[in-house]
Amino acid sequence: MQTVTIAGITVERTAALAPMAGVADTPYRTLCKRMGAVMTTSEMISAKGLCYDSRGSAALCRITPEERPMALQLFGNEPDFIARAARMVQEYKPDLIDLNMGCPVQKVTAQGAGSALMKTPDLAAACVRAAVAASDVPVTVKMRIGWDEQSRNAVPFALAMEEAGAAALTVHGRTRSQLYSGKADWEAIAAVKAAVRIPVIGSGDVTDAASCEAMYRETGADLVCIGRASYGNPWIFSEIGAHLRGEDWRAPTPDERMEMMLLHIRMILQHSDKPPALAIREARKHASWYMTGGRGAAAFRARCYTLSSYEEAERLAEDFLLVNREPQQN
Ligand SMILES: Cc1cc2nc3c(=O)[nH]c(=O)nc-3n(C[C@H](O)[C@H](O)[C@H](O)COP(=O)(O)O)c2cc1C
Repeated sequence: MQTVTIAGITVERTAALAPMAGVADTPYRTLCKRMGAVMTTSEMISAKGLCYDSRGSAALCRITPEERPMALQLFGNEPDFIARAARMVQEYKPDLIDLNMGCPVQKVTAQGAGSALMKTPDLAAACVRAAVAASDVPVTVKMRIGWDEQSRNAVPFALAMEEAGAAALTVHGRTRSQLYSGKADWEAIAAVKAAVRIPVIGSGDVTDAASCEAMYRETGADLVCIGRASYGNPWIFSEIGAHLRGEDWRAPTPDERMEMMLLHIRMILQHSDKPPALAIREARKHASWYMTGGRGAAAFRARCYTLSSYEEAERLAEDFLLVNREPQQN
């Protein structure tokens, strides 16, 4: 088993779960971790929101034992707020604090936070220094490769973050202007890896064991993290783990897919602060992702978007299996 140490945490060198706001919440992270994700990160949390006592922000800081090692990810662009928030989140005992310098959303970048920090490396470095001074645990940075094509600055930016005290970097191989389109530039990730001494986690377009292995080979990254390819597919982590360890792996059967979907929905209902009739809405997109690739997927996915109870999800799973279950071998 090959291991790697990221900011003092030693994990198997397979794949971590990438942070995903609105997607990778406690139930999602727990299932990915169970299936082999070696580390997890919270959804991004507003440093200012925490300081102003937003209940929503505090709820995002909760960590359950199964999700560890887990980073809490803060966003903001004011070193004072970052420092206060970094101090506040110590109460949740995160394994790491990660600073978001990659979010492309207009509401975030308009304030100068998220990926807009790549345009202000001095301010970004001040945020890192402030977090490091306030935190008992290592501080890491998640970045893109620049703001736009004309201002790609991944290497000098990464060096500045290292100099400011970042203990590791996650690099999503796209500029802010690309949002999530086009192909992630793995050469740019490789250039960062070659330039810094701290560990680098590669992010962008790893979709299966073969592409994970390719990212390791082409970038030299210390670890890989996976976002969208884990939608309705926590097995991607067992697939990658098995492949890299040279073990056999088989894809989940339709029955296993539906069991996982129902477990995921039960976890969403249990974990939510909302009444079941509202919480089930949070389950709809996840349910639809478990249908991907199945026979009749389009129609089943459409049904997911109107799910209004757990019992309805059970009936949906039964119907899915009627058309997707492999014939029994006699
Ligand atoms: C729905 C969604 C939400 C995301 N939220 C965050 C976030 O809160 N913090 C962050 O650093 N990156 C966030 N990302 C970026 C991912 O962590 C990742 O870098 C990106 O999706 C590329 O990896 P992938 O091709 O494996 O999805 C988000 C991505 C998606 C698709």
